[in-house]
Amino acid sequence: MITLNINGKDMQVDADPSTPVLWALRDHLNLTGTKFGCGAALCGACTVHLNGEPIRSCITPISAVMGQKITTIEAMEADKVGKAVQDAWVKHDVPQCGYCQSGQIMSATALLRKNKHPSDADIDGAMSGNICRCGTYQRIRAAIKDAAKTLA
Ligand code: FES
Ligand code: FES
Repeated sequence: MITLNINGKDMQVDADPSTPVLWALRDHLNLTGTKFGCGAALCGACTVHLNGEPIRSCITPISAVMGQKITTIEAMEADKVGKAVQDAWVKHDVPQCGYCQSGQIMSATALLRKNKHPSDADIDGAMSGNICRCGTYQRIRAAIKDAAKTLA
């Protein structure tokens, strides 16, 4: 058994230490908000926070995160910044198919925690690893700016 701290709670996972965090979340803990896209750190669909920093959970083994804080999309509603981002996502009707969006929200939330007034270039830099096949980038940018205003 491996203990992982997820969304503020210690959780037991009966899995090999090499298991990616993504599969521990989805298959062992039923936290299915985090999505599988590429499995190779190329799309950002699997983004979660490790100690507040966005990471790609598809390539991060659970052995590398023991004793550290993992936060997933399921905890964003209870997070001041995460909630502002989610509200802005709804207001701007950002998602199309929705598949990439939990990863987008995790990256956007991490950005706004560090940078309260991101420029277009800051947003593009922070979000460049999150691919959206539906091309919702313009709405993502508008929603991030709106969330920044709400939080100001
Ligand atoms: S599924 Fe992890 S980056 Fe694509
Ligand atoms: S909303 Fe469809 S992939 Fe982004």
